[in-house]
Amino acid sequence: MLLCQTAAEMHDAYRALRNAEHTLGLVPTMGALHAGHLSLISIARTQNDAVVASIFVNPIQFGPGEDYEAYPRDFDADYSKLESAGVHALFAPSVAEMLPRGNTTFVDTGELGTRLDGASRPGHFRGVATIVARLLHIVQPDRAYFGQKDAAQIAVLRRMVRDLNFPAHLIVCPIVRESDGLALSSRNRYLAPDERRSALILSRALNAVQQLVEQGETRGEALRASLLNTFATDPLVRVDYATVVDPDTLLPLDDISHGALIAVAAWIGTTRLIDNLLLPTRA
Ligand code: PAJ
Repeated sequence: MLLCQTAAEMHDAYRALRNAEHTLGLVPTMGALHAGHLSLISIARTQNDAVVASIFVNPIQFGPGEDYEAYPRDFDADYSKLESAGVHALFAPSVAEMLPRGNTTFVDTGELGTRLDGASRPGHFRGVATIVARLLHIVQPDRAYFGQKDAAQIAVLRRMVRDLNFPAHLIVCPIVRESDGLALSSRNRYLAPDERRSALILSRALNAVQQLVEQGETRGEALRASLLNTFATDPLVRVDYATVVDPDTLLPLDDISHGALIAVAAWIGTTRLIDNLLLPTRA
């Protein structure tokens, strides 16, 4: 596996891989890798001749008082996981490399970037979109892989790729969960044992909605009420959002017959977790 720490090195690697191989897949991450990240890599490997992974804990997507400093960093463990996963090149730039002094250009994600996580984390999606735009320019992949786990991030990036004519195809990969239903997240390691038990409430709330939908419920309001009922059962949990929205616009839906995103975010102690369920169009 090649290790590239500057955009110039990455560019050389890209040219070498492009010449030697045919298609290139990019899996952007912030490290602290788990099986969710590795599933993106294995999907990318099946669809491309070469795969580049990136690790960059992006300061501009964290708000003041958020966990930028505390965010788990474990470069050596991540490096071996990526090498064993068959990644061809790892792009692991410094902050100065990705955000040089004097940088004044950012991607404006508009109204869309103020919804769901964008509402509780102002500026978050501007930071995500700016860094993903830079990664796409540096690595120039044919396909870029993202997890459905971050559903609002998908909506924002899909729109960015369309609006700014990025040539890369954005590929969305399914959510990987623990056997008890908890969606894998680098932030799960913050949870104390009692919080880890409480954290299951996110997937339980989504399962309850899934059951209602299987019983024929199509009203967004009824599904929203079900989410809130589940969350009300645990006083340790503080809901950030629990909603039924259009997966592309992230605006609330009254009726889910044409598909919907059921999205939840909650604080378990000082840890904020998110999860979601994507409902297809009803036949
Ligand atoms: P990070 O949280 O490290 O996640 C990297 C990628 O892994 C994202 O596309 C995310 O959706 C995906 N992912 C995380 N948990 C997953 C799970 N349980 N199942 C499937 N996929 C999962 O998301 C980011 O980093 C950053 O915002 C980034 C896109 C790298 C920009 O800085």
